[in-house]
Amino acid sequence: MTGLPLLITGGTGLLGLHWAAARRETQPVTLALHRRRIALPGTTARPLNLADPHDLDAAMTEDRIACIIHTAGLTSVERCEQDPEAAHHHNVTLAATVAAAAERAGAALIHISTDHLFDGRADLYDEDSPATPVNVYGQTKARAEEAVLRAHPRALVLRTNFYGWGPSHRPSFSDWLLTSLRQDRPLRLFTDMRYTPTHITPLIEAAMALSAKGASGIVNAVGDEALSKHAFGLRLADHFGLSPARIEPARLADQPDLVRRPLSMALSTRRLHALLGHGLGGIDAHLDLLRAQEETPAITEIRSL
Ligand SMILES: NC(=O)c1ccc[n+]([C@@H]2O[C@H](COP(=O)([O-])OP(=O)(O)OC[C@H]3O[C@@H](n4cnc5c(N)ncnc54)[C@H](OP(=O)(O)O)[C@@H]3O)[C@@H](O)[C@H]2O)c1
Repeated sequence: MTGLPLLITGGTGLLGLHWAAARRETQPVTLALHRRRIALPGTTARPLNLADPHDLDAAMTEDRIACIIHTAGLTSVERCEQDPEAAHHHNVTLAATVAAAAERAGAALIHISTDHLFDGRADLYDEDSPATPVNVYGQTKARAEEAVLRAHPRALVLRTNFYGWGPSHRPSFSDWLLTSLRQDRPLRLFTDMRYTPTHITPLIEAAMALSAKGASGIVNAVGDEALSKHAFGLRLADHFGLSPARIEPARLADQPDLVRRPLSMALSTRRLHALLGHGLGGIDAHLDLLRAQEETPAITEIRSL
């Protein structure tokens, strides 16, 4: 193993677990744990209080961390809206504390942001589009980007939206769709909400490639195609040979009781293409990959956690 040691916060989350599984044969991986306790073979699990700079400094020194991947956060839009103070603590304060620890240690930082930063009136947002969040989750993620780049000016901030096979305690959007389709349960998916999702594996590969090139600042790291959630559901059903009959069209604009969400979250990948020489790929390639991964040992391991 030749790679430099990685610390992944949010080690039990969807992205954190995939990142650890993808890198554990290449570089030492420390998984920072919060409430949930898990063991992923080939990695070191470490309970870590991300609000405590001393705890962070000790981890950085003892595990000789060269790069932090900060995925931890409060990711439920509903919970953020119900408790804005907790959302600010989890998404802004912890991100800033982690960024400052990486900077003190001279370590690189990849901070995971979101596509949920805009009011949804534009067709496509690039990295220079001013943040115009419409809910507490988006507000805290926008403030986190600023706080992270203030504390660690060389940080790489990735705006993204991903899916993949999740652990049993954290089903992803594609897990939810597949379970519903396979159990013949009705699904209502929005036709008026556009986004640019990516499979989680090309996202992680691109992030490591960008970091190796020394890329910094904000980069949109999403798939090549924009589509609605409804269209995504139909494409997924098709790739898995499942009937789309139970997928019903719905409109986000007709859901007054939901926490307000942007109608467009689609991100431009022009900067990503310029930096990498390629994008993350389109929906068909990603859904083929999702299907091919289902029975692989690494995915079976993640799904059983
Ligand atoms: N999922 C998506 O499609 C998506 C889209 C756009 C952006 N993102 C961003 O991508 C990142 C990762 O998302 P995800 O879906 O992988 O997250 P997730 O599955 O919801 O996992 C969140 C992780 O954060 C940890 N955590 C929560 N509070 C913590 C605290 N106070 N201290 C330390 N750790 C804490 C959780 O640990 P416990 O469970 O032990 O509390 C869990 O491991 C987030 O920053 C999210 O905003 C996600």
